[in-house]
Amino acid sequence: MRILITGARGQLGTDLQRSLSDHELIPCAHHELDVTEKHRVYALLKEHGPDVVINTAAYHRVDECESHPGETFAVNAVGPWHLATACRMHGAKLVHISTNFVFDGRADRPYTEDELPGPLNVYGTAKLSGEHLVRSNWDRHFIVRTTGLFGHSVGSGKGSNFIETMIRIGMERREVVVVSDQVMSPTSTEDLAGALGELIESEAYGTYHVTSGGACSYFDFARTIFRKTGIDTVVRPTSTEAYGAPAARPLYTVLDNGRILSLGIAEMPSWEDALDGYLAQRVRRGDETAGFP
Ligand SMILES: NC(=O)c1ccc[n+]([C@@H]2O[C@H](COP(=O)([O-])OP(=O)(O)OC[C@H]3O[C@@H](n4cnc5c(N)ncnc54)[C@H](OP(=O)(O)O)[C@@H]3O)[C@@H](O)[C@H]2O)c1
Repeated sequence: MRILITGARGQLGTDLQRSLSDHELIPCAHHELDVTEKHRVYALLKEHGPDVVINTAAYHRVDECESHPGETFAVNAVGPWHLATACRMHGAKLVHISTNFVFDGRADRPYTEDELPGPLNVYGTAKLSGEHLVRSNWDRHFIVRTTGLFGHSVGSGKGSNFIETMIRIGMERREVVVVSDQVMSPTSTEDLAGALGELIESEAYGTYHVTSGGACSYFDFARTIFRKTGIDTVVRPTSTEAYGAPAARPLYTVLDNGRILSLGIAEMPSWEDALDGYLAQRVRRGDETAGFP
């Protein structure tokens, strides 16, 4: 298949290129395709005629989004709408990546795809709008919600993922404070890219929750990162309220993966196994900060 990937230098975009390398790929970095530019989106799809478009592009600095609603909606809602329109014109399947932040986080068990979203912040609201604009515009879509991504990006993206942030801070400080009441599934972009590769072979259009197995709080995630890397920084728990970030965050956003498993697509490994793989790869690549104490 011919597959066009937006946000190709991001975490997921980078791993999609590796995972889908048997296909004919058209990886588009941000500077090559800005999804907010309608005419550029239309022109590129016309030029390449892809069978599938995978939209990983996003503006997702969640706190910054609160003070930049225009840009947040342009990238996360209007951009997907342009892509859906162009996919409809050329008959391409569209995979659009969405987020756990469409939910309000008040659940006490994993969210299914049929549960009512209720975003708490500008980012989640824009991502939910993007979902609606894709759904209402083009039937041959896969909307894939995921959580807490980590991968070896070649680009700047969000700047850093949680693992890299913890390792950096852990090597600088003796103590770090991390929220213990936000629970999700840290998810490997490498494993997610593999699942998306299987999903695009199907015609089972709709909305899917796709994450690594298991769940934890960011506090537990940080402790596990330090334990596995041998960094002896102390992790102190705090609450989301006490932490006081500018954007409200949903607390419990574990996503039920039952629907994608029902297609016969293999369950993704647990987040802890995926973390082992990530850290091992990091050491193999000889990252500057990979020489753990
Ligand atoms: N990261 C998470 O924890 C997480 C959790 C749940 C869902 N998601 C969703 O998963 C998807 C992939 O996330 P990721 O972690 O791979 O993100 P990422 O590493 O930040 O990659 C996103 C890419 O999109 C590019 N981009 C930004 N604005 C763009 C625009 N207007 N047009 C085209 N490209 C643009 C960025 O380029 P620049 O860096 O050059 O701006 C970046 O390379 C996103 O849809 C995100 O909402 C992420």
